[in-house]
Amino acid sequence: MAATASVSSAAAAGSLWPRSAARSDEGQLEFHGISAAELLEKYGSPLYVLDTDEVRMRARNFVSDAQSAFRNITTKASFAAKAFISKEIVRIVSEEGMYVDTCSAGEMRIALAAGVPGRRLILHGNNKSDEEIRLAVENDFAKIVLDSPDEPRRVARIARETGKRARVMLRVTVGVHAGGHEYISTSHEDQKFGVALLAAGEDSSALEKSETAVKAIAKGPALSVLKDILSLQDDLELVGIHSHIGSQIHDASAFNEAARRILLLRETLYFTDGFTAPEIDLGGGYSVAYLDSDESMNIKSTFEDIAGTFAKFSREGLPSPAVSFEPGRSIIAPAGVTLYKVGTVKPVALSDGTTRVYVSVDGGMSDNIRPALYDADYTAVLANRANAAESDVIESNVRRDDSDENAQASAEKSAEKSAETCLARVVGMHCESGDIIVKNVYLPADIKRGDILAVPATGAYGRTMASNYNQVPRPAVAAVSSEGSHLMIRRETVEDLLSLDVSQ
Ligand SMILES: Cc1ncc(COP(=O)(O)O)c(C=O)c1O
Repeated sequence: MAATASVSSAAAAGSLWPRSAARSDEGQLEFHGISAAELLEKYGSPLYVLDTDEVRMRARNFVSDAQSAFRNITTKASFAAKAFISKEIVRIVSEEGMYVDTCSAGEMRIALAAGVPGRRLILHGNNKSDEEIRLAVENDFAKIVLDSPDEPRRVARIARETGKRARVMLRVTVGVHAGGHEYISTSHEDQKFGVALLAAGEDSSALEKSETAVKAIAKGPALSVLKDILSLQDDLELVGIHSHIGSQIHDASAFNEAARRILLLRETLYFTDGFTAPEIDLGGGYSVAYLDSDESMNIKSTFEDIAGTFAKFSREGLPSPAVSFEPGRSIIAPAGVTLYKVGTVKPVALSDGTTRVYVSVDGGMSDNIRPALYDADYTAVLANRANAAESDVIESNVRRDDSDENAQASAEKSAEKSAETCLARVVGMHCESGDIIVKNVYLPADIKRGDILAVPATGAYGRTMASNYNQVPRPAVAAVSSEGSHLMIRRETVEDLLSLDVSQ
């Protein structure tokens, strides 16, 4: 099957679509030669499609890029299961050498049910229950990432009761501000995660020089909690220091600065207590493209940069720490595409004399909350038939941080190239006017009920953040690969929802 330029070049560019996405000669969008229409026919609509070959390749590349950048330093990568979880995906990333990062009993139990040994699992969370801590300790988790000053004692008590020694890290808020939306940026002071590196009011310029940095860090809350952990050594093994600075980060220098600050903390702990933390975990957050105009982070060169920081700032005489990473989105987002059936198509006249066509689909904010939650941008293409103007449509999906007006203007400019498109907004079927999936996109002017729309880059934080708003059952997840397609997670039914409603 020959592929038209648009989808295949987007796929080749590396990130918006899975590599298997192509247009057939008849104009059908396909994955591994299986058309979107066939997938909906077989598994129903709407549908999350996940290319498991793409996930495998991304996990493999991540692991090998880390190893080759850090050469003599041990590297570890864990898949952040909050981005997407199913037993099959957990198995795939584990087979590719990744650990699995969990942050609730549900995620832990799915990972364990997939057959991953506890020694390959990590537990995170700012409010872990005793039951979650116990499950992690009993299963010998690789690490439990402590998130607040009271946690060392809680975990130590549970470890003692269980007759085990728990491996722990401390999550430190290093004060590097990175990431897209405020809600996905996690290393500024005024938020719920981690323990601060510096005492409140301490000037972060102290961190610029090694001598002043060590003094400032020695007075900070993070060092004090690390000391608490060391005082509980019978029950806790301190395996490292953790930092996660945010998500959808484009700038490698944010990771470099976080790494430098954590190395300074490690050095301070060595000076004060003679303890050398064996590992530094730099968390996740590697950006992906959601629009053709977006760039995804170049992971290989980011690692090379961070490796340079390690080489530059590691103190002579102190053995190098192992370094670990927790990618979620960059492993799974571009492997996922959501397919929807088009329903109502409604042209709405705007006050500036233009028209916007509201294209309603059979899903919406219940299967993808990111636009409503983070103001996230997506794009969409017609999947079930040829569209002569498609490359214009794809090129026109240019919007990153710009205003609606800019997005509309650039979309309009592209559309001048084709009389066959209309300015559209793809909306869901929920009772909220903010139920928008794609804010501005040029779609074929003859778009109609029954057409299929494909929204790329929905593999991360789509299904895992899905809800039953308006009592809409969550869609199925179908896996596609070179071996064909199969059901990964079945569609919920209204019967499932009714079965939860147990009062008479
Ligand atoms: C502690 C931690 N690690 C890793 C991740 C994964 O981030 P991403 O999916 O952006 O790579 C997150 C996301 O919130 C996180 O909180």
